[in-house]
Amino acid sequence: MEAAFFKAKKQGLKLLKNYVSLAFIAVLLVSVIAGCSSSAQSEAEQENAQRPIIVQGPMPIEAEKFADKLENVKKEKSGTFEFYIGTVDNYPVIVAKTGKGMENTAAATAVAIERYNPIAIINQGTSGGHDPNLHVFDIVLGKRTVNIGSLKTGNRAENEGIAPTEWKPMDLMASEGSAGEDPNAENIRYYEGDKDLLAAANAVKDKYTKGKVVEGTIGSADVWNNEVDRIKWFHKKYGTSVEEMEGAAGAQIAKAYDVPFLGIRILSNNKTNGGEYNPDTAAANQEYVYEVVRKYISTLPSE
Ligand code: 5AD
Repeated sequence: MEAAFFKAKKQGLKLLKNYVSLAFIAVLLVSVIAGCSSSAQSEAEQENAQRPIIVQGPMPIEAEKFADKLENVKKEKSGTFEFYIGTVDNYPVIVAKTGKGMENTAAATAVAIERYNPIAIINQGTSGGHDPNLHVFDIVLGKRTVNIGSLKTGNRAENEGIAPTEWKPMDLMASEGSAGEDPNAENIRYYEGDKDLLAAANAVKDKYTKGKVVEGTIGSADVWNNEVDRIKWFHKKYGTSVEEMEGAAGAQIAKAYDVPFLGIRILSNNKTNGGEYNPDTAAANQEYVYEVVRKYISTLPSE
């Protein structure tokens, strides 16, 4: 009798144990399923979230005017790079103050792409004219952007002097081998401006009244050229309309990540026709680029 009681108790306990483990498994399953669907949901949310347009400017006078026009702004910093995160016409736009030069621009572009997953990047600011037909306050849309500091000198022994007009272009993207030894690297590497950004820029060019807006070639290097013959050499050999210190660095990194890119540069000076430096051009360019951004936003498919 007693033995039968204990047997029944044991069986009851076993059953209870089974129930508990079943319930535990059920809870586990439910939470795993919930977890999966919430991560799927957040991925979908991310995909659906509007990807921002990034507007880069090197100097405070080349970025802050645009940043002032943003709505709902918050500021983030990474290294020395400042990002003003806001909206234009309810669409996300980030103004990036990159600092001057190729290195700052390349790094700020990579950081921005990794952090904000932009739909497009506009690099804008001031520049010096290479084309005598362009004047201070005219604007160049970068149909092409090119690094004019990537060069290979001729072979000259000691006391044979230096001859910059013999220098050859050097395409650092030609191969993974030595650019100095590879004859295929002796080519000019142009980065094409994105056609949709260019179309938006062309569509609003009549809104700009301080000068003309033309398509052209933007040359970039960490160099400020004041030798008119050297400027003419670049203009002839590379077809440069203007020079500045950022565009090609941004274009190269944007291409590495397959992000649409356009350089938009206003002339603040032009050595080839006596155009004196005018810092007010920086603000004028941002006014125009603001119109370009609004136009581009209006062409994006709504969700
Ligand atoms: N040469 C090089 N950079 C120029 N800039 C304006 N004009 C010129 C020029 N003639 C811009 C550069 C850099 C800063 C020095 O001004 O892009 O940001």
